[in-house]
Amino acid sequence: METLKVEVWRGGEDGKFQAFEVPRRASQTVLDVVTHIQRFLDPTLAYRFACRVGMCGSCAMTVNGKPRWTCRTHVDGVARDGELRLAPLANLPVVRDLVADMREFFDKWARARGRFVPTATRKDDFARVDPRSKARREADAAIECIGCGVCYAACDVVKWNPDYLGPAALNRAWTLQMDARDAGHAGRLAAVAGDAGCHSCHTMMSCTERCPKQLSPTRSIAGLKRASLAALLAGEVEAP
Ligand code: SF4
Ligand code: SF4
Ligand code: FES
Repeated sequence: METLKVEVWRGGEDGKFQAFEVPRRASQTVLDVVTHIQRFLDPTLAYRFACRVGMCGSCAMTVNGKPRWTCRTHVDGVARDGELRLAPLANLPVVRDLVADMREFFDKWARARGRFVPTATRKDDFARVDPRSKARREADAAIECIGCGVCYAACDVVKWNPDYLGPAALNRAWTLQMDARDAGHAGRLAAVAGDAGCHSCHTMMSCTERCPKQLSPTRSIAGLKRASLAALLAGEVEAP
């Protein structure tokens, strides 16, 4: 039977790779490989997944050096010389084995004020937002983020500056800045214009290249840079 050599990160930050041999199957995904190891070779292997069909983003890991959704990654497309090397998502602390600690990723969404601030009450009628308006089209282009962390793991600025808010939190902030119903615009711009915010982005595009939803956090961050500079010049936010 044809087999695949798989090296898997085991333990915490100071762990090491452990080698396994897994049977090759037709249309096998990387998540199938991890599941085989956990079910048949070592039940103590820790990893995350939920939907298996590219909807939840929880199966994201580093596959041969790149962050990917493992349920949507076929072994045929990534195995180099019949070998796979699997590790938790980069730029995040390791909980154990293939599980990264996502807390600081989501803490940064909060720091970027990634929460909708309502202007209406239950008694108000539905807000009408023109689907053809520029702001609505900008928000639409970025709204489908599911918070998987792939872009964050791909960003070198996050690696160099752990305080940097990162592509996903800034992308989220941009969708809210483009939402006419949201009342948090000024505070959010101040939150994302600081040292660790949008102006730290080097426009390297790794986030955009790697996003499995084909979103462009780079474009959203460029929008935040323009909006925060305009707000600065208008005296609406203070210089960082
Ligand atoms: S922008 Fe894309 S890669 Fe980043 S968290 Fe959202 S869905 Fe994942
Ligand atoms: S474009 Fe900005 S946020 Fe995206 S990977 Fe590059 S530096 Fe990071
Ligand atoms: S398990 Fe949900 S996206 Fe992979």
